[in-house]
Amino acid sequence: MSAYQVESFGTTPEGVEVELYTLTNAGEVEVRITNYGGIITHLRVPDRDGELADVVLGYDSLSAYLEDSPYLGAIVGRYGNRIGAGRFLLDGVEYKLATNNGDNHLHGGLKGFDKVVWGAEPYSGDGETGLRLTYVSADGEEGYPGRLTATVTYILTNENELVIEYSAETDKPTVVNLTHHSYFNLAGHDAGDILGHELALAASRFTPVDAGLIPTGELRHLAGSPMDFRTSTPIGSRIEDPDEQLEFGGGYDHNFVLDDHDGSLRIAARVYEPGSGRVMEVYTTEPAIQFYSGNFLDGSNVGKDDAPYEHRSGFCLETQHFPDSPNQPHFPSTVLRPGERYESTTIYKFSIQ
Ligand code: BGC
Repeated sequence: MSAYQVESFGTTPEGVEVELYTLTNAGEVEVRITNYGGIITHLRVPDRDGELADVVLGYDSLSAYLEDSPYLGAIVGRYGNRIGAGRFLLDGVEYKLATNNGDNHLHGGLKGFDKVVWGAEPYSGDGETGLRLTYVSADGEEGYPGRLTATVTYILTNENELVIEYSAETDKPTVVNLTHHSYFNLAGHDAGDILGHELALAASRFTPVDAGLIPTGELRHLAGSPMDFRTSTPIGSRIEDPDEQLEFGGGYDHNFVLDDHDGSLRIAARVYEPGSGRVMEVYTTEPAIQFYSGNFLDGSNVGKDDAPYEHRSGFCLETQHFPDSPNQPHFPSTVLRPGERYESTTIYKFSIQ
């Protein structure tokens, strides 16, 4: 039986009560989500022997998320990843955004969608259980034009899929790029580095970056480079190769352009963890995926069960439009206008091999 439960997760410094929701499916998969930042705090999935492990990095308490979180498990918005120099032109008007990553704007700014309390209501589909989150971002918030109403629905299916449906509407032209920032470790959130995980990406090109991790504008073929994950390859096998792109990212922190993108739901990534046999597939309607190998983790964030999250102890696969698209007219557009509806779906599907 699928189930849905709610409990208190504490109170923000502004006195807003925050909840923790637990969704369970018929196959014992359990996901916990808080409406603070829409954060997935726990995700328990079976290994090849049926043993459950929690495969996402996270904290035990709301206060730990409030204090310092590298976007662990969060919804990222209004714009996922970087906008160069924190500015862009739209219809001839320049907008200046909050800068929170050197001179650049990262993941929605100082107080992005990962740091706000979302409205929450249960969602129930076809024997499935879910949570619908809503947030209204004011006109001018973090520098963005337009009042944006965003909805994110998490659905846990009995096929061990975590479905994430995003939608948004605006009252003035704006830019939108919503994504999800779980750090996965399929051996368990406290199992050490992710370098032995085998990754395949449905991408023949990526968008190279400069030293500030802003795309140069090029769409580069990745054949023959350490970026080539067209066939399944351990994450760690080339991560220390001498390569300018890996140096800039301190490892993998790149936007992979998905092949044959047509807006339909397609497989973007597959990850296999040999020790446990766990497999995660990522399907998306988005044109790209950011593969981030947890390079900025350094043990200073102490997670659930007192696990120190060391260098590369989790990886992110963030489905998205390309970073800095508002400044790169040849990238797929991220502009949303009044009367239009932004819609995007991503599925993280768990199985064993
Ligand atoms: C970005 C990294 C960034 C990290 C923040 C990732 O999505 O690509 O550059 O440091 O998020 O935790």
